[in-house]
Amino acid sequence: MFSRSGGINPSWAQEFHRENIENIVTESLAKSKLTINQIDAIAVTAKPGLIACLQIGLRYAKHLARKYHKPLIPIHHMKAHAVTARLENPTLKYPFLCLLVSGGHCQLVIVWNVNKFHLLGDCTTGSPGECFDKIARKMGLHNLPEYSECSGGQAIELAAAKSVNPNRFEFPVPFQQQRNCQFFFGGIKDHANKVIHELQQQQQEQNSSRDKNQLIPHYEDLCAAILKSVTMQLLRRTQRAMHYCERIALFGYGDSKLPKAFVLSGGVACNDYIYTAFNQMVNQFGYTCYRPSKRLCSDNGVMIAWNGIEKWIENETKFRQLDIDSVLPVSRETFAVNLIEDIERKNISCDWVKVPAMQ
Ligand code: KG4
Ligand code: ZN
Repeated sequence: MFSRSGGINPSWAQEFHRENIENIVTESLAKSKLTINQIDAIAVTAKPGLIACLQIGLRYAKHLARKYHKPLIPIHHMKAHAVTARLENPTLKYPFLCLLVSGGHCQLVIVWNVNKFHLLGDCTTGSPGECFDKIARKMGLHNLPEYSECSGGQAIELAAAKSVNPNRFEFPVPFQQQRNCQFFFGGIKDHANKVIHELQQQQQEQNSSRDKNQLIPHYEDLCAAILKSVTMQLLRRTQRAMHYCERIALFGYGDSKLPKAFVLSGGVACNDYIYTAFNQMVNQFGYTCYRPSKRLCSDNGVMIAWNGIEKWIENETKFRQLDIDSVLPVSRETFAVNLIEDIERKNISCDWVKVPAMQ
């Protein structure tokens, strides 16, 4: 499914979906000891994503919906990431602040309810997952047996844990002066590529018969520096978002205060260093930190089903009346009201909290 550069090959991915979709549905029903007649409705991802893959899922879901006379619930994949934490944590109530970090996204949102989202920060040029994946591939981490089965982000986390000197490499913190919650990972990627290139050149000069698969010296320290730099950016943007939430009294004021909740979700949330850092930071501002269990952080069908359940409970009639033919796959679609400029206008300064040391 992956190309040589580490990206997804759309036609392979489509083929993979086509080959597996029917078996997955059959196995899921068998495992849950249910027949399709006992299912109320069918939830399916309609956006955003690779059209070729969305089409396979949608086509099959529509076929089932027609054959068994079931309502269809179209799901926005990022909204599903955002609300999954409620499946395992009944104490997590709306509203909450949420950071979605994956291979395709980096978005800070206020989740008011299952249908209402406000966007506080976004990344229009890449994501932390993409940054980790590209750097891991450039370093050649997948050439080592212990990382060969890992995603780039997971490989970087494991290698960073072996670092002996996490401060050996210094990385820039982008957009320090800009008083918004926007993300940018291009600077980290460029700096990492430069360091890797220089170290590979040095290796080449010292040893002309260098094995192409050999890793650069101190790669574990470099992974630690990259992980810390990405984490620092995520923390700082989120800290400003929390100050913004104070200003708009998101969690109420006076005696009518709601519990302050923060959710970390998406594939990159599997990273324990990032999660621990967030837990420490948000606690300092009185927030409880939630993240779905790791198998529910990365893309999965359970989160789509859960989002379907919440939407069904909220407005069953809407889905009973939905024209199935009107549901089409969409590659990109914002799902939240944009408050990015409002944050900038508020010109919020922050006293940064410390980023925890690498253990
Ligand atoms: O949410 P997800 O499964 O798919 C997308 O919607 O993109 O996220 C996949 C991303 C990949 O970029 C992968 O490298 C990253 O999540 N990832 C991690 C870890 N596990 C997966 N990043 C950092 N640390 C991890 N442990
Ligand atoms: Zn995802």
